Amino acid sequence: MAASISHSASSFLFIVSFAVLVIFTGSSSAQLSKNFYSKSCPQVFSTVQSVLHSAISKQPRQGASLLRLHFHDCFVNGCDGSVLLDDTPTFTGEKTAAPNNGSIRGFEVVDEIKSEIEKECPGVVSCADILAIVARDSVKILGGPKWDVKLGRRDSKTASFSAANSGVIPPPLSTLSNLINRFQAKGLSTKDMVALSGAHTIGQARCTVFRDRIYNDTNIDSSFAKTRQNTCPRTTGLPGDNRISPLDLKTPTGFDNYYYKDLINQKGLLRSDQQLFNGGSTDSLVKKYSEDTETFYSDFVEAIIKMGDLQPLTGSSGEIRKNCRMVNNQWR
Ligand code: HEM
Ligand SMILES: *[C@@H]1O[C@H](CO)[C@@H](O)[C@H](O)[C@H]1NC(C)=O
Ligand SMILES: *[C@@H]1O[C@H](CO)[C@@H](O)[C@H](O)[C@H]1NC(C)=O
Repeated sequence: MAASISHSASSFLFIVSFAVLVIFTGSSSAQLSKNFYSKSCPQVFSTVQSVLHSAISKQPRQGASLLRLHFHDCFVNGCDGSVLLDDTPTFTGEKTAAPNNGSIRGFEVVDEIKSEIEKECPGVVSCADILAIVARDSVKILGGPKWDVKLGRRDSKTASFSAANSGVIPPPLSTLSNLINRFQAKGLSTKDMVALSGAHTIGQARCTVFRDRIYNDTNIDSSFAKTRQNTCPRTTGLPGDNRISPLDLKTPTGFDNYYYKDLINQKGLLRSDQQLFNGGSTDSLVKKYSEDTETFYSDFVEAIIKMGDLQPLTGSSGEIRKNCRMVNNQWR
C-alpha cells in the first residue's frame, strides 16, 4: 500500500514537472502547422513570393536583410514580430538596440507584403509568420535549400529594447564559447549554431562591426585584411563606419557553402565568424560544410525550423497586427 501511494505520488510529480518544463522552456509549439492558412488565406505563399521576387531582383541584398530579421525577431522573446515595431514618442522598441541600430533593414519589403496580404485576407496573417515565410523564400530565391515553413504565430503587442540589447543576440566580437552559450540558451545546439551561421553566405556588414578584426586579429589572411582596410578606415567615424563589405567574399548574393570555405582560408569577415574555425571544437563541422553542401543544407533547414519554433504566441495570445510597424490599438 505504502509503496503504491509513493509510486503514484512520484508519477504525479513526474507529470507535473514535465508539464512545467514544457511550459517554461517555451519550446512547445504544437500549434504551429504547415497548413495553418490553407483555408483562411490560401494565396499567402504566392503573394509573399511575388512581392519578394521583385524586391530581390531590384536589390539582391534584401533577401539577406530579411533572413536576418527572422533571426533577430526569434532570439528576442520568441518569433512574435516584435522587431518590426516602430518607436513612438511613448514607446521604445527593438530597432535601436545595439545589434539592430543602423543595421537591420528590409522593413519596406515587409510593409509591401503585408499590405498586399491585407487586401486579400484582412486580419488573418501575422507579421511574425510573414517573417518566417520571407526567410524561407529568400533562401530559396538566392539558390539555397527549400523547406516547409510552420505557421500560426501571432504578433506581440509590445517589444523589448532591453532584451534586444542584453546580448541574447551575440555581438560580432563574441568568442566561440559565447556563441555556443547564446544558442544553447535558446535550445539550439552547437551544430545548429554553426549551420545557422551559414546565413552569412549572403549579405553585407558595416565597417564598424569588423574594424577590430581587420586591424587587430592575427587569425586572418593578410591580403584579405588589407583589401578590407582599403574601404574600412582604422579610425572610428562617418562615413567610414557605414561602408559595407560582403560577409562571403565570393558569392554574397548566392546561398551556398562558400562562407565555410572563407573560414577555412581565414577570410571570415567578422571575428565571430572566424571563431568557428580557429582550432576549436567546431573546426570539423566547418570543414565538413565547406566540402559538403548537402549536409550544410539539411543541417541549416533543421536548425532554422527549430529557430522558428522559439516561443510563438498562439491561440488567443497577442494579436494579428494590421500594420507590422504598430500594434492595433495604437490610436485608440
Ligand atoms: C552566430 C552569431 C551571429 C553573429 C555574431 C552575427 C552578427 C552579424 C553582424 C555583426 C552582421 C552585420 C551587421 C551590420 O553590418 O550592421 C550580420 C549580418 C547578417 N546576419 Fe548575422 N550574426 C549571427 C548569426 C546569424 C544568423 C543565425 C542569421 C540567420 C539565420 C544571420 C543572418 C545574417 C545576414 C543574412 C546578414 C546580412 C544582412 C544584410 O546584408 O542586411 N546571422 N550578422
Ligand atoms: C542609434 O544610432 C543613431 C545614429 O547613429 C544614434 O544617434 C543613436 O544614439 C543610436 N541609438 C541608440 C539607442 O544607441
Ligand atoms: C586594436 O586593439 C587595441 C587594444 O585593444 C585597441 O585599443 C584598438 O582600438 C584596436 N584597433 C581597432 C582598429 O579596433
